[in-house]
Amino acid sequence: MLMILCMPSKPTEPHNNFNSYNTNKPMPVISKNNNNNASSSVPKLFLFFTFLSILSLAFFFFPTTTITTTTIAHPSLSLQSSLEPTINVYVADLPRSLNYGLLDRYWAFSPSDSRLGSDSDRGIRSSNLGIKTLEIPPYPENPLIKQYSAEYWILGDLMTPPQHRTGSFAKRVFDPRNAHVIFVPFFATLSAEMQLGMAKGAFRKKVGNEDYKRQRQVIDFLKKTESWKRSGGRDHVFVLTDPVAMWHVKDEISPAILLVVDFGGWYRHDSKSSNCSSTDTDMIQHTQVSVLKDVIVPYTHLLPRLHLSENKERHNILYFKGAKHRRRGGLIREKLWDLLVNESGVIMEEGFPNATGREQSIRGMRASEFCLHPAGDTPTSCRLFDAIQSLCIPVIISDNIELPFEGMVDYLEFSVFVAVSDALKPSWLVNHLKSFSKEQKDRFRQNMAQVQPIFVYDNGHPGGIGPIPLDGAVNHIWKKVHQKLPMIKEAIIREKRKPPGVSVPRRCHCT
Ligand SMILES: *[C@@H]1O[C@H](CO)[C@@H](O)[C@H](O)[C@H]1NC(C)=O
Ligand SMILES: *[C@@H]1O[C@H](CO)[C@@H](O)[C@H](O)[C@H]1NC(C)=O
Ligand SMILES: *[C@@H]1O[C@H](CO)[C@@H](O)[C@H](O)[C@H]1NC(C)=O
Repeated sequence: MLMILCMPSKPTEPHNNFNSYNTNKPMPVISKNNNNNASSSVPKLFLFFTFLSILSLAFFFFPTTTITTTTIAHPSLSLQSSLEPTINVYVADLPRSLNYGLLDRYWAFSPSDSRLGSDSDRGIRSSNLGIKTLEIPPYPENPLIKQYSAEYWILGDLMTPPQHRTGSFAKRVFDPRNAHVIFVPFFATLSAEMQLGMAKGAFRKKVGNEDYKRQRQVIDFLKKTESWKRSGGRDHVFVLTDPVAMWHVKDEISPAILLVVDFGGWYRHDSKSSNCSSTDTDMIQHTQVSVLKDVIVPYTHLLPRLHLSENKERHNILYFKGAKHRRRGGLIREKLWDLLVNESGVIMEEGFPNATGREQSIRGMRASEFCLHPAGDTPTSCRLFDAIQSLCIPVIISDNIELPFEGMVDYLEFSVFVAVSDALKPSWLVNHLKSFSKEQKDRFRQNMAQVQPIFVYDNGHPGGIGPIPLDGAVNHIWKKVHQKLPMIKEAIIREKRKPPGVSVPRRCHCT
């Protein structure tokens, strides 16, 4: 049933009109292959259900003994695998200036310009002068920006020629009417970070704010499209990894599916804490996010992967590197710091945001059994994903944390969760961690090694253009979006039946 619900409302023959993706520059890598093989999920589905009904009829008319299990096992298995659902994704026709064009501009800054980029980016600018002419330039290495690079890898997968996308869960369609969702290819994080780097003062203003101009351009474009008018934006997917991405237009995109790293900086929609019992998407107000319609995505890890076979003995119990002082929820960090800094076997260090700091983290995370993950200014950070790639058992100290791919990954199998109140009792944490046996820790590490790939975006191809790993972050994100489809569809249909002239629904009266 779910799959029927998820089919596009008008399953017309797929059109071969490639939506010319960029308007400024041609993108040969894609346009060569514009006769998309937006293939045969409808016929396959039809075949499957035909097969199912024949099968059930067979069961009905013949007692099960007459059909041996061997005769039905094989066809049903092979059909099942070809029925692996996909999500049909249409990429909105935004100009290149709103995605890869931003990277052209990023790399065009003078190497001596200290405002944007890290040491490594300045190095890339001065040593690789050809970078500006690349069709798909690399994403910045500056760790502050790189940790949010989901937008780059998700688009890279969608831009890959169809014949190289056979492992992708998202099927790119070239007619929005065949799409389950519309992907908005705006590099919202890079846009925000570039504005913050160049003129931080203008960021919260609209005047003189390039980022705001781009946000406006995206929204004004989308609101004119048939797809947006039909859905009110509910089936549009925005990547908003940086909490300040699309800051000025949050209320306008609030009905959409937002890919966020956590709910920090947003109000959380929690039906239990309000008197609104409704669980549909149209009750989620502006500046709110919800696990109902939004998807938590991983930060991009910054440290290299340690394979289980390379794991060495770990001499420290607990490792933490980061700033001692942090805003908002990070107050506990300071208290934890004082509690732990002089414990034996615990390494607490303040790091530098450069190559030295990176080496320090790699060493620290690989030489410690556990890695501390206290609340920062938002509940999560890329540190958690660095710990997983380093096979350092995460110790998550946060009373309200949202994690990616919940339900697909069981974090209890490789992490330790600690209540803030316990963590702040003197000696409690170290004693608790010491109580884990070697076998338990080894099991955690084995489980962690299995989930490492799930949190990796980079597919190893320049520009992210090329086949993606089946078990990587991009496919998991689309699988999560796929899970939301029935509810989104319901919300769109409910909205559509409202007679003209009916304004905002007030089914819920909070007093
Ligand atoms: C829910 O309603 C009750 C009674 O009307 C009220 O006292 C309470 O404050 C409301 N709670 C919220 C979260 O609005
Ligand atoms: C940790 O030990 C150092 C050196 O003995 C001392 O100066 C410092 O005050 C101690 N810190 C805390 C928080 O106890
Ligand atoms: C990183 O920064 C620290 C402190 O500023 C400095 O001592 C160190 O040499 C730097 N390392 C590199 C590789 O630039």
